[in-house]
Amino acid sequence: MKKITSSLALSLLFLSVSAQVPVYLDETKPVNYRIEDALSRMTLEEKIAMIHAQSKFSTPGCPRLGIPELWMSDGPHGVRMEIAWDDWTHAGWTNDSCTAYPALTCLAATFNPELSFQYGNALGEEARFRKKDVILGPGVNIYRTPLSGRNFEYLGEDPYLSSKMVVPYIRGVQQNGVSACMKHFALNNQEENRDKINVEVSDRALYEIYLPAFRAGVQEGGVWAVMGSYNKFRGQYCSHNELLINEILKGDWGFDGVMMTDWGSAHDTREAVYNGLDIEMGSWTNGLTWGESSAYDKYYLAQPFLKAIQDGKWPESLLDEKVRRVLRLNFRTNMDRSRAYGKKLAPEHTALARRIAEEGIVLLKNKGEFFPVKRSYKKIAVIGENAVKRLSQGGGSSELKAREEVSPLQGMINEYGRENILFTLGYASGNPDYSRELPSGLDADSLTQEALKIAKEADIVLFFGGLNKNYSQDCEGGDRKNMDLPYGQNELIEKILRVNKNTGVILISGNAVSMPWLGKINALIQSWYLGSQAGAATAGVISGHINPSGKLPFSIPVKLEDNSAHYFGKRSYPGVSDTQHYEDDILIGYRWHEKKKIDPQFPFGYGLSYTTFRYGRISTDKTIYSKGDSVIISFTLKNTGKIKGAESVQVYIGQENPSVMRPVKELKAFRKLFLEAGEERSTRISIPVESFAFYNAKTGSWMLEEDKFTVYLASSSQKTESSATIKIRN
Ligand code: BGC
Repeated sequence: MKKITSSLALSLLFLSVSAQVPVYLDETKPVNYRIEDALSRMTLEEKIAMIHAQSKFSTPGCPRLGIPELWMSDGPHGVRMEIAWDDWTHAGWTNDSCTAYPALTCLAATFNPELSFQYGNALGEEARFRKKDVILGPGVNIYRTPLSGRNFEYLGEDPYLSSKMVVPYIRGVQQNGVSACMKHFALNNQEENRDKINVEVSDRALYEIYLPAFRAGVQEGGVWAVMGSYNKFRGQYCSHNELLINEILKGDWGFDGVMMTDWGSAHDTREAVYNGLDIEMGSWTNGLTWGESSAYDKYYLAQPFLKAIQDGKWPESLLDEKVRRVLRLNFRTNMDRSRAYGKKLAPEHTALARRIAEEGIVLLKNKGEFFPVKRSYKKIAVIGENAVKRLSQGGGSSELKAREEVSPLQGMINEYGRENILFTLGYASGNPDYSRELPSGLDADSLTQEALKIAKEADIVLFFGGLNKNYSQDCEGGDRKNMDLPYGQNELIEKILRVNKNTGVILISGNAVSMPWLGKINALIQSWYLGSQAGAATAGVISGHINPSGKLPFSIPVKLEDNSAHYFGKRSYPGVSDTQHYEDDILIGYRWHEKKKIDPQFPFGYGLSYTTFRYGRISTDKTIYSKGDSVIISFTLKNTGKIKGAESVQVYIGQENPSVMRPVKELKAFRKLFLEAGEERSTRISIPVESFAFYNAKTGSWMLEEDKFTVYLASSSQKTESSATIKIRN
């Protein structure tokens, strides 16, 4: 009896408590009700607090109502180490090391959207475990010039490739109840003068080249947060840009998430209030080095906004609209009680980081089957700083404290045995720093002499060079000064070749470099910042355990002037008087090389394999299509070699007689096919004809003309394997 009474009392208590659960905490209620309920309970000051930083990487939520703080972290290649509350120093925690995943250039080079999903999911799991609600990535700015310090954080030069790769990444992150934050919206195509530069670009280039990946991230990926860029667009800062945010992002694309600043990219209260900015972070910093501490009340979206509302200058509804979005972000992340707990540094994270690295490495030249390096060699010279430099560090905000980073040298030792490897640095750079170049303390001459000594006695030389994450290399806040390899590497390679012709080069970078020695070396691998398993993946390809299958996500020009942005001089890059005009318009990357008939050193989409593939003829299901149709193409691909391998088949479309200038052809589909030795497979790919349209700046809409189109089946942008012609009629 007693038991019954107490359980009855308990249920009554539960009923009365649950009857009191406020609507905003009731997960059975529609999100919009919950948002309105929470909003109605908040004071003006509480609302203001929700929309600007309380520390370097957090906003305060609303403690009185139990609405948690929002915690953010960089991004985009792993969860960054903890940063101090109020300045940029590392907080010195001992439990904040992470899995370093390969840089996004590498992810793009895999041409494998499924891997992108797994990448996002693994990152989301680690972010969740570290109690981060927002991961500041991915970056989807288009690779316009090989000098841009941040290209390694982006997905290459092609809007279609970057769109297809960004969507699964976002979905993967967000299925963990962690928000992705797609950045930097928009036109952050150079780091030089990034705080001030004003970009002038045509509508057509904006819609066809620079916005598609952002749009895909919003409309297909369903991203919950977007970060503004530092630069201006048409005279207005991007983080509170009327056209970009109010009209395009929130208007045309229907984005219902949070628009936040980059760290220190807000400049004006009125614009921030009216032009769609929802959260302000990092004001009075240049995003890297300096900042006023504890200045949060002075932020544009703090006291100045509060005062204007109190004075009746602006209506509170403007604030409510922002708070609604922040609350929605809370409900999607840290107030979603069903979200998983995450995990970090799990064995499957390590395995995934390795697999992405293996699939992204690109083999560019392989004379006389130089690679895989034969096991009969007893003296393999490994020369170059990038064989040992920890490249998950540096580069700016994407720096990582990787728990483990297998160096290429270690990878080579593991594969070939310590006794068979001769190693020396060859050249040296200083430690990474975000705002200046630090010199190396080592003597360049002695390093060269030692390298030549080793090269002379070796059976084979592997030179591990490229760029690194030091300032003025692949690092945010500044661009490279030219396209050459730094630290005297070109001279060193030439000298090595004089003493040993059996030399191959492994370039590690996030950008194209000039290669004056290309004709003299036997083989070349383009590798990337590969993260925790860098060396294992690299040595895997070098030894042949892994058959390379990466393809270049950007064109490599012979020289800088061959690149579209540089062709037009300073007005186009880096700008004059803080303004630049994208004279290259829609013709960037391979679109430029093809139209202007300027051969690249290596084209977009190019990459070799240790096996060979035979493409069958392309066929289409019809020859005449109407609007709304899809072209279904079919072809066979055969692995004609002796080992299994993978090929990223590319489909480009070109219009015969357009009424406006159009590129010769543009990527509209790709598929990565994994084939056993001797295997042949038939594949069908469906491509909506609407994707053949161009952006008509006069009408402000996409236009598909009745015309003949060529469908190119290709192994790179430069190598068509077979083609078909179709017609589009109304
Ligand atoms: C970078 C952002 C980054 C932010 C926070 C800025 O300097 O541009 O990409 O997310 O800092 O670290």
